[in-house]
Amino acid sequence: MTYTLIDSGNAWKLEKFGTYTLVRPCAQAVWKPALDEDVWKKADATFTRDAGNRWIYQKKIPSSWHIEISGIQFKISPTDFGHLGVFPEHSLLWEWMVKKIQGRSKPARVLNLFAYSGGASLAAAKAGASVCHLDASKGMVAWARENAALNGLEGAPIRWIVDDAAKFLARELKRGVQYDGIILDPPTFGRGAKGELFKIEDDLHPLLESCRKLLSEDPLFFIFSSHTPGFTPIVMDHVLRQCLRSFTGTIETGEMLIQAPESVPLPLGSFARWSND
Ligand SMILES: C[S@@+](CC[C@H](N)C(=O)[O-])C[C@H]1O[C@@H](n2cnc3c(N)ncnc32)[C@H](O)[C@@H]1O
Repeated sequence: MTYTLIDSGNAWKLEKFGTYTLVRPCAQAVWKPALDEDVWKKADATFTRDAGNRWIYQKKIPSSWHIEISGIQFKISPTDFGHLGVFPEHSLLWEWMVKKIQGRSKPARVLNLFAYSGGASLAAAKAGASVCHLDASKGMVAWARENAALNGLEGAPIRWIVDDAAKFLARELKRGVQYDGIILDPPTFGRGAKGELFKIEDDLHPLLESCRKLLSEDPLFFIFSSHTPGFTPIVMDHVLRQCLRSFTGTIETGEMLIQAPESVPLPLGSFARWSND
C-alpha cells in the first residue's frame, strides 16, 4: 500500500494513503480538477479549516494504518492539523540522498533537522549512514521511532534528539561533532522543545551558518527544502549558494513535485541541494 496523488484543483488535493482517500486544502491548486466531482465525492474523509480545523469523515477509517513510500514504511494517522505523518513530496530528495550515501566508500554521518516522522532519517539509515534525528516535538520523535521499528531499524545507529534546533546546533559545535550530510527542512514558524520561537525570516541565517560549520572536511550533501511561500527554487539557490560558497560542488534546485497518474503534477515547496560532485 502506498501513496498516490489522485487529483488537485479548486484549492484542494485528493490523495490516497494506502486504501483511504482523503481531501485536504491546497492553496496553490488554483486550476480546475482533472477528474469528475463524483470521484472527489467518494473520498473517505475531508480536512477543513472552516469553523476551526477538523476532519469530516464520510466513512469510518482507523485511527492509524501503514503505507510504504520509497521503500520506507510509515505509520499514517490523521492529526488535528491535517497532517498524516508524512510529506510525500520529500521522497524524491530521499531517493537522491540514498544514492549519494551508497556511492560513498566510507559510512556517512547524517544530521536531519526538523526531522518530523523520520522519512529522511530512515532512508539514510537504511542506506548505511549513521544518523542524528532531531525534532522539538517529543510526540514526533516517538512517532519517528515507531516508524524505525516498522522498518526493522530499531537497532540502526540513529541518535534520537528532542531539542530546539538552534540550541542543539550550538552544543554540537562546542563538542566538535561533524556531519557528512545535512537535511534542513525548516518550518515557516515553529516552537522549540521549551517553547523557543522559530521564525524563518529571523532564524534561517544563523541556522545555516551553524550547519555549514558542522560539515566535515569531506562533505557529501546538503539538502535545504522549504514550504514557506516565496521560497522559490531561485531564492533557495541564492541562500544555499551564499552559505556554501567556500565548498566546491554542485547545487541543483527545483520544486518538490508530486506526480499524479490522472492529473497534473502538484508542486509542494522548493529545494536546493548541494553535492560534492
Ligand atoms: C513541517 S515539519 C518538517 C517536515 C519533515 N522534515 C519531513 O521530512 O517530513 C516541521 C517540524 O519541525 C519541528 N520544529 C518546529 N520548530 C522546531 C525547533 N525550533 N527546533 C526543532 N524542531 C522544530 C516540528 O515539531 C515539526 O516536526
